[in-house]
Amino acid sequence: MKIINIAIDGPAAAGKSTISRRVAGRLNYMYIDTGAMYRSVTLYALNHGTEQMFDNLNRIDIRFKNEDSGNQRVLLNNEDVTEAIRSKEVTANVSKVASYEAVRTYLVNMQQQLADEKGIVMDGRDVGTTVLPDAELKIFMQASPKVRAERRLIEERERGNQVDLETLTKQIMERDEFDMSREISPLVQAEDAFLLDTSEMTIEEVESCIIKLALEKV
Ligand code: C5P
Repeated sequence: MKIINIAIDGPAAAGKSTISRRVAGRLNYMYIDTGAMYRSVTLYALNHGTEQMFDNLNRIDIRFKNEDSGNQRVLLNNEDVTEAIRSKEVTANVSKVASYEAVRTYLVNMQQQLADEKGIVMDGRDVGTTVLPDAELKIFMQASPKVRAERRLIEERERGNQVDLETLTKQIMERDEFDMSREISPLVQAEDAFLLDTSEMTIEEVESCIIKLALEKV
């Protein structure tokens, strides 16, 4: 069977990471969460200052570690930052940090290296357009802002964060607006991407749909 790369892009909280992780598990592929990489650089900038982040960019090491349980941990310079990169502060600052050209160049290069040997499911905002323009399967995952905010609310509450639906909806829409209007690699559907609106779909339905599309390519 041919081994392919799968690019999954879309706005915030569209369910990309949940689905990407499941699809990768089913195909025995590796899952790469590019958002976690931008979040890690943002955490570094918050801890050390933006200037130092730029000065040390090439020494910022980001790794993914798969656990036997199926969970994935994120390591920033050998420190486990899996939970820290989901903080409110990181979420509020990540789009700004992700709009810097030097940051994008550095991370896109790292992402391309990770995908070099194929067998990757990578999710983000510019995977199908910029990181892996030759990916054999590209999905652009959409869902209504209401559905996305409701899904994110459940996740945040599970993490013990008290937030309300209105604030979350506002944050999600602001982040999308910023990501769509930035100069370099804005969030946009690749011309050859399959548009999947998951508003009315269950996780299982979305997963089956992508697996079916992937099996047509292998
Ligand atoms: O996917 P997640 O919501 O964790 O991404 C956090 C932020 O990282 C996005 O809002 C976006 O600003 C940035 N990002 C990006 N390009 C990617 C992935 C994420 O600019 N490929």
